[in-house]
Amino acid sequence: MADTKKLFIKTYGCQMNVYDSERMAEAMGGAGYETTDKPDEADMILLNTCHIREKAAEKVYSELGRLKSFKKDNPDLKIGVAGCVAQAEGEEIMRRQPSVDLVVGPQAYHRLPEMEEKTRKGKKALDTDFPEEDKFEKLKRRPKAKRAPAAFLTVQEGCDKFCAFCVVPYTRGAEVSRPVERIITEARDLVERGVREITMLGQNVNAYHGEGPNGKVWTLADLIWELDKVDGLERIRFTTSHPNDMQDDLIDAHAECKKLMPYLHLPVQSGSDKILKRMNRSHTAESYIRLIERIRKGRPDLLLSGDFIVGFPEESEEDFQATLDLVKEVKYGQAYSFKYSSRPGTPAAERPLVDQDAADERLQRLQALLSKQQKEVQDSMVGREVSVLFEKTGRFEDQMVGKSDYLHAVHVAGSGAEIGDIRKVKIVESGTNSLKGVAV
Ligand code: 5AD
Ligand code: SF4
Repeated sequence: MADTKKLFIKTYGCQMNVYDSERMAEAMGGAGYETTDKPDEADMILLNTCHIREKAAEKVYSELGRLKSFKKDNPDLKIGVAGCVAQAEGEEIMRRQPSVDLVVGPQAYHRLPEMEEKTRKGKKALDTDFPEEDKFEKLKRRPKAKRAPAAFLTVQEGCDKFCAFCVVPYTRGAEVSRPVERIITEARDLVERGVREITMLGQNVNAYHGEGPNGKVWTLADLIWELDKVDGLERIRFTTSHPNDMQDDLIDAHAECKKLMPYLHLPVQSGSDKILKRMNRSHTAESYIRLIERIRKGRPDLLLSGDFIVGFPEESEEDFQATLDLVKEVKYGQAYSFKYSSRPGTPAAERPLVDQDAADERLQRLQALLSKQQKEVQDSMVGREVSVLFEKTGRFEDQMVGKSDYLHAVHVAGSGAEIGDIRKVKIVESGTNSLKGVAV
């Protein structure tokens, strides 16, 4: 057998990229590569990139500038760019950074081995097509390697919502749902390899409308109930969702499906109806709050997570205040907040920016409020019994670290639990970013 070559992948951005990086590593496994965590010993370096905000994209170029020097020590090193920057900028990347050998968009990962071969012949390889075929079907798996107990599984890609600030509909294309059968086959395979929790991924995962085995169109809730039947799979999650796609069957699943975890990431972006309208979100602050109330009615302990943008064009202090009011009303257990970043090609990019000092200051105020809420929600776990899926060993002897149903990190000492075990744990202490518990 030829020498195994080494592949280093650096992943930026969302969980979808984490999943894609794993699939790319597996595909390259078939082409004689094994992964390494040391870029200096790699034969190929792949950056799996994110284009969502300007900062994220710029980071990629500065990293490419740094990596260039690795080629001096290893002239055979190939450098590739995958992900959303690859899709959005294509050839431009090679122009800006000639050390890049390969640019591959998110829909063309199954072609990576052929592209690598091309680069070995000294050519540049570029593929940012949106082919018809299911790339995951084509991404051949390695023999059944054991997996960590929590895994991602992409069920849907792309977005048809066209929020005025967002590049996703352009970089990831239109909404496409994978057929049910393939998803269930992949889920069973993951479970055979030790997985006990699956997070279904999609840019707009609750808009899932995949082909079911009976030729019918299945919803995300249908898929959840099908996964519920998979023996050995204990926990189901999904991310990320749009409020307008929270249909009744999905709300009911939150109330009724025991394996569906009490955690929901449901971005609202702003609490001002004026701004929501300008963002093309097609929901109001009020309709969002009513929706949360309905979901919580069936699942009162639901932990809510959200995304927020401050400083969107035309956002006034009053609009921002409405966002703070909404946050206070909803109470988030987890949140991600960003200053608006103008993305070329999106509708909002044409509009004048708000005063940037005001935007920075709003972001600070919002983050202070959200941090306070998150800490309060975390602290409220003390004294409660939660279930914990153990994912790794802790820093101290005998200590294990896992995630609660609510996705809090929990440290437990002396439980005798092993990686992959799910145990009932009583929470005894709330730290800065994690909880401490004892097995019951
Ligand atoms: N500027 C700032 N934040 C953005 N997001 C998406 N596009 C932008 C942008 N142009 C945020 C949204 C989204 C999350 C993934 O990233 O809050 O929900
Ligand atoms: Fe972007 Fe909006 Fe689609 Fe989310 S719903 S991916 S924010 S366009």
